[in-house]
Amino acid sequence: MPDWDAKYAARDDLFGAAPNDYVRCMATRSDFPGGPVLCLADGDGRNGTWLASLGLEVTAVDISRVATQKARRRDTAAGLQVDRITADILEWTPPGGQRWNAVFLIYLQSDPGTRQCALQLASNALRPGGWLVIEAFARGAGLEVALGPRDGSVLYSLEEIERLTPDLTALDAFEGRTRLDEGDRHQGLAQVVRYTGRRR
Ligand SMILES: C[S@@+](CC[C@H](N)C(=O)[O-])C[C@H]1O[C@@H](n2cnc3c(N)ncnc32)[C@H](O)[C@@H]1O
Repeated sequence: MPDWDAKYAARDDLFGAAPNDYVRCMATRSDFPGGPVLCLADGDGRNGTWLASLGLEVTAVDISRVATQKARRRDTAAGLQVDRITADILEWTPPGGQRWNAVFLIYLQSDPGTRQCALQLASNALRPGGWLVIEAFARGAGLEVALGPRDGSVLYSLEEIERLTPDLTALDAFEGRTRLDEGDRHQGLAQVVRYTGRRR
């Protein structure tokens, strides 16, 4: 696994200060189920803080202590409160069996075991009717795609997401190329999945 503490310590705004476009798009739909929401692997907080700015109650989990500290500073600067937890999602379970109206899983590129755990945790953390919103680098990038991990084992596919989250019904599903414009790290043409599923 990359040394996320070192990455966040070395640079500000790795993925930009603005929320991810897909998060913004889904969270502002008229049928979005509202809060409370859970952000898994929220990093330095661009998505969690923005969701809190909509008036949503936000819980955020990330393995990186440095990212979580930066995210807390972002929350404070915005005058917002987010319940931020530093934890490995392989070991974390929602306290008291808590459930959320939406779970966001944005660019967690990890080994297949962690990815499977994250998808099942996210699905199980939803109330009936709740949404799981995912964006991540996907398999099948052609040579013209410059962005994203070269290690195919950390990439997503819609087929895998749907197979590992059988309790969800897809509301929105895209797998293909798009030009990212997010911070220093996500600039250029990328092969991505964008998926939103509703828990039955
Ligand atoms: C590419 S960054 C994306 C951060 C954030 N979602 C965003 O879009 O700005 C991936 C994040 O996953 C976190 N992460 C990686 N493995 C994790 C794990 N096992 N448990 C919790 N967080 C993890 C890293 O610390 C990092 O913040």
